[in-house]
Amino acid sequence: MKKEAAARGVDLISLGIGDPDTPTFPHIVQALAAAAARPANHRYPDYEGLPSFRAAAASFVQRRFGVSADPETEVVSLIGSKEGIANMAVAFVDPGDVVLVPDPGYPVYGIGTLFNGGTPYLMPLRAEHRFLPDLHAIPEEVARRAKLMWLGYPNNPTAALASPQFFADVVEFATRHGIIVAHDNAYSEIYYDEAPPSFLATPGADALGIEFHSLSKTYNMTGWRVGFAIGNRELVAGLGKVKTNVDSGVFQAVQEAAIAALTGDPVIVERLRATYRERRDVLVRGLETVGLPCDPPAGTFYVWAPVPRGSTAADLARRCLTEAGVVVTPGNGFGDAGEGYIRLTLCSSIERLREAVERLRGLGL
Ligand SMILES: Cc1ncc(COP(=O)(O)O)c(C=O)c1O
Repeated sequence: MKKEAAARGVDLISLGIGDPDTPTFPHIVQALAAAAARPANHRYPDYEGLPSFRAAAASFVQRRFGVSADPETEVVSLIGSKEGIANMAVAFVDPGDVVLVPDPGYPVYGIGTLFNGGTPYLMPLRAEHRFLPDLHAIPEEVARRAKLMWLGYPNNPTAALASPQFFADVVEFATRHGIIVAHDNAYSEIYYDEAPPSFLATPGADALGIEFHSLSKTYNMTGWRVGFAIGNRELVAGLGKVKTNVDSGVFQAVQEAAIAALTGDPVIVERLRATYRERRDVLVRGLETVGLPCDPPAGTFYVWAPVPRGSTAADLARRCLTEAGVVVTPGNGFGDAGEGYIRLTLCSSIERLREAVERLRGLGL
């Protein structure tokens, strides 16, 4: 429908895909240019990542979250965190294994499970439970068979954060049932008030946890494909074993640029947060005036807005597109429990967000 509308010449405002609209910071681009010119970087990269990249990743995690990790054995570079999330299932999910997957959630958790013969068990994320899975609602039999649990906070698509207490409950649950916890922290630096924690900072998490980090959203580097996994050494080794055998490392020049990002002045990320905060306030206040009241996101650059009574996510998304030229994502695209919501992104300028609100006013919701 989007393509059709674009072909008709409609000036679409895309609040669909979560891809930063502002460019990668210049010092990172310059670091790439210099590194790309060095012939040593033109050869096959190490599978696990340059020691200097892994050290920069470990010290970022130490500085930001107070979590210590041995760069040699507890960090592995990734060609974007999506690669690691998908390969985590190759490494650990066998046919018949149950994987606990949040619903709604980033689709790769469930798809990776299915591709490897596992069975996703969906954990609904509901507003009344602050978009955290209800661990008590997971049947004993399911917990017993579960191999792995996926979590991701700040959460895509609900924009919720998890508290240290929730993570402590997860460690208790996972320890009791012998479950690996894989925490997706791709949005760790996109927050509005309190800085979200690392799952790995939870006492006991080092025994069963692995966390996925991404440079994509923090430094506007979605196109560069670089991230890392950090945590329990056996889990990191398992993921590394898959990478060694089925794919390759990250272009070393990109790793050098990523070091410039991870070790750079944190004020640039503070400015990025300020940009999203301003956009968030404009969009959330605007949506309220057009009959789409919603909670402001606590993290991520998504707004998770309930659809008005009597409508479905798909109906509302269709009306936004066909009647207003505004692209939003129906919440059930992230799983059945996302029905009743639409997701809008903050990856457009303030002016476009204001215009989107004015166009949505015309829907008369
Ligand atoms: C929740 C979540 N995890 C992981 C990713 C993957 O990010 P990347 O592969 O760019 O690191 C995304 C991308 O949109 C995401 O939304």
